[in-house]
Amino acid sequence: MSKNTAVIQTDIIEGTINKNIYGHFAEHLGRGIYEGIWVGEDSRIPNIEGIRADVAQALKKLNIPVLRWPGGCFADEYHWANGVGERQTMLNTHWGGTIDSNEFGTHEFMRLCELLGCEPYIAGNVGSGTVKEMADWVEYMTFEAGTPMSDWRKENGREKPWKLKYFGIGNENWGCGGNMHPEYYADLYRNFQTYVRNYSGNEVFKIAGGANVDDYRWTEILMKKAADLMDGLSLHYYTIPGDFWKGKGSATEFSEDEWFITMKKAAYMDELITRHSCIMDQYDPDKRVGLIIDEWGTWLDPEPGTNPGFLYQQNTIRDALAAASHFHIFHQHASRVQMANIAQTVNVLQAMILTEGENMLLTPTYHVFDMFKVHQDAFLLAAETKAARYEWKDGQLPQVSISASKNKAGDIHISICNIDHLQKADVKIELRGMSKRGNPSGTILHTDKMNARNTFSSPENVKPKPFAGFTVQDGKLNAELPPMAVVLLTLPTSK
Ligand code: AHR
Repeated sequence: MSKNTAVIQTDIIEGTINKNIYGHFAEHLGRGIYEGIWVGEDSRIPNIEGIRADVAQALKKLNIPVLRWPGGCFADEYHWANGVGERQTMLNTHWGGTIDSNEFGTHEFMRLCELLGCEPYIAGNVGSGTVKEMADWVEYMTFEAGTPMSDWRKENGREKPWKLKYFGIGNENWGCGGNMHPEYYADLYRNFQTYVRNYSGNEVFKIAGGANVDDYRWTEILMKKAADLMDGLSLHYYTIPGDFWKGKGSATEFSEDEWFITMKKAAYMDELITRHSCIMDQYDPDKRVGLIIDEWGTWLDPEPGTNPGFLYQQNTIRDALAAASHFHIFHQHASRVQMANIAQTVNVLQAMILTEGENMLLTPTYHVFDMFKVHQDAFLLAAETKAARYEWKDGQLPQVSISASKNKAGDIHISICNIDHLQKADVKIELRGMSKRGNPSGTILHTDKMNARNTFSSPENVKPKPFAGFTVQDGKLNAELPPMAVVLLTLPTSK
């Protein structure tokens, strides 16, 4: 068993873990919106004004802070006016060439956000849209009354303006969003964002389209030319064990090598954030501009027999470990990372929920979001970990990662991941400066098989269970984690 040690300073706060790090992304892609979220009022599937009731209820439990929509690549070919009032169909060129009925538009998305109790984050169209179209959309959503757009909103059934906090000026404008050079996009950003106005007391947090993976030049140019006019700059990075074009790797039938590579590629997020942040620091030393990782997650081969353009993939304990590792990285960078949105909520990529007709299941990734929600908006505690080595063939990674936070009530939560697929992890944590505590409790997400997953015939194969493999005494926490495990420990204040 490998030995890991850590020190957590329970009385030293390093910052706040922005709850928006636990954000989501839902695009008009495959069965993500249609079927996954939207079934329409006439469906035999129980729904709330057309929104699937079972999915809304399960998502609500996650305390989703913010939801990004309508894309993705879809955003830069979406013309919002076709999705309000009388609907006009459109061709979804990026994702399978399907016809989008536009039944799910602005009103339906805002209703979904209301049901989930989350902030909407709308991605506007720069690639094939106009400044006027973007300006009109913002006026439509947020202007009180008496203008053409606000009157049209009222005609379409919404009297009061919505609160719209987050607005993205395009998506992946280096690629599907217009194949632009950063210099050109930076100028367009300056232009478009000018007309994204604050109306009727609404204040928009403006997010510029950011870099793909390690395109540091993109970040440099955007910061240099437009940092003064942005609140956030995005970054996209997906964990792909194989090759993007030649085969990403099966979501379920993968080897030990692929397990290790997945963990290694998930860990790469740390280097990316560090290096992009370093560039941002030069132009924004006060860290006013947030790094917004508005697309992340595992991107694997689609389920055999499904439309490859729909990006429908299964989800195993491997995905759960990758998600938990990402959260630990995001926490470490809490001062710069202000939001992250996993791709994508239902039936697409690393989803929380999979649906099949009227059935739905919760994925292992869902359970990580559920376990870790206690970290949302909590104070990040200073922690230092000396991890044992997880060795596989020629490679090595830290076996465990640990993150600790304290909520406003004073309860401490410690999350621990053991990414090693073979070895148990012995974890000894010194809890410095800790006040008297109530009875601790633990939860674990773990399976013996590395491709364990939930299926429609066995939907509860992978789910959190109570964890008793730890002790807390005299400021020392000892835990023994099985391989491939995510653990959450709660040390409550003493009542
Ligand atoms: O999430 C799937 C796609 O990945 C998004 O549409 C795009 O922004 C990214 O390339």
